[in-house]
Amino acid sequence: MSEKAVLTFRDKKIELPVLVGTDGEVAIDITKLRDQTGMITFDPGLGNTGACSSSITYIDGDKGILRYRGIPIEQFTNHPNFVEVAWLLIFGRLPKRDELKAFSEQLTENELLHEGLKHQFQHLPVDAPPMAILSATLSNLACYHQGFLALEDTEALTAAAARLISKVRTIAAFSYRRSRGWPIIYPDPKMRYCANFLHMMFSIPFQQYIVTPEVEDALNLIFILHADHEQNCSTSTVRTVGSAKANLFASCAAGVSALWGPLHGGANVEVIQMLERIHAGGLSPESCIEAAKDKANPFRLSGFGHRVYKNYDPRAKILHECCDRVFSSLNRQDPLLDIARKLEELALQDSYFIDRKLYPNVDFYSGILLRAMGLPTNMFTVCFAIGRLPGWIAQWKEQHDDPSTRITRPRQVYTGNDAIDYVPMEQR
Ligand code: ACO
Repeated sequence: MSEKAVLTFRDKKIELPVLVGTDGEVAIDITKLRDQTGMITFDPGLGNTGACSSSITYIDGDKGILRYRGIPIEQFTNHPNFVEVAWLLIFGRLPKRDELKAFSEQLTENELLHEGLKHQFQHLPVDAPPMAILSATLSNLACYHQGFLALEDTEALTAAAARLISKVRTIAAFSYRRSRGWPIIYPDPKMRYCANFLHMMFSIPFQQYIVTPEVEDALNLIFILHADHEQNCSTSTVRTVGSAKANLFASCAAGVSALWGPLHGGANVEVIQMLERIHAGGLSPESCIEAAKDKANPFRLSGFGHRVYKNYDPRAKILHECCDRVFSSLNRQDPLLDIARKLEELALQDSYFIDRKLYPNVDFYSGILLRAMGLPTNMFTVCFAIGRLPGWIAQWKEQHDDPSTRITRPRQVYTGNDAIDYVPMEQR
């Protein structure tokens, strides 16, 4: 017989079913709580609430484990291929050779933007934030691809996913070109996903940007490491919008808007700004560690600590190694990387950080890598969004395919006025 949890309140006692995940995580099923008792639960920020069951991504924050469809994240680091990971996340298993080839071909077929959409870039202010452009343009895709507003089968979902995953990098690169006042560079169908993005970002007419294998691999890796992270803020947003049966374009555009928030996708920008301040001010890493520990000082060590990981974020470990590889193969130096390495070394030996289980998170090294590739800081979160898109699509599909999905509609504990009378304007 399956286990039950017993809830006793005043003179009432009810039994609640218990769900157990693959990893043994126990969840008390309260779906019938209000029907049976008239009560609701209170969990601002939903930190204790399982809002869905999912078979896409597994995280064990205490042990520092991250798996996509069961595969440990570390196993994607040799010859990383973001498109293969995108397929895995969306369709639930590794693609066969012909499946990956067909999906890659679909990406190539969809890399151009409709001319009407392209013209919209010309009317935007040059200093428009790229995340605003990205969110608006993903939403606008629905105007040009109305056939995908309702996705009835896997074939239509695959086609819509290919459109989104392909066009997002074209939109991102066009928004960057617009901000620089540079002419738009069209995608090159002969190039692979990441190399094509870098080409659209950095080539200039009559001078093709040369993509080195190390940089291409590093960008693949950054996208892979950001591809999904279960029910984070932007993914929950995509699911919430999708639960109303809103289309995939609108749902993913909402995800971009959530990701834009500095508490979510903007943290790697803060890391770079912190490292720049330390460098420009000639501050010592030791003094920054002391400042981060000082409760009277609001300074926090950006890129350290995580709501879920109470161990080394496995993505940070991979990116740290990737930084070492890229910088040595390009024979590059970056004083910010030296400062970051020193901060990490000091923090990992300091009882303040050890006791609170504060380790580097994914943002600690991703900004340094993106900077080394020549990406400006206002494109960091855009790169996060390109990486996260397959995860959003996978989560949207999982929810869409689940017949038990209900529209997301939380309750509240109302604390406002009791019923009062309307007061006419002249009597107020
Ligand atoms: N520097 C110094 N002290 C810290 C830091 C930090 N980066 N992070 C947490 N602490 C301390 C807190 O002051 C607190 O100390 P106390 O117990 O003495 O009061 C303790 O560690 C626990 O901190 P919380 O804020 O309760 O931890 P929480 O899990 O709520 O927050 C968060 C996690 C927001 C990521 C936090 O660690 C932080 O602000 N880090 C810096 C910003 C950052 O890197 N954000 C990116 C997160 S990764 C991502 O979103 C993709």
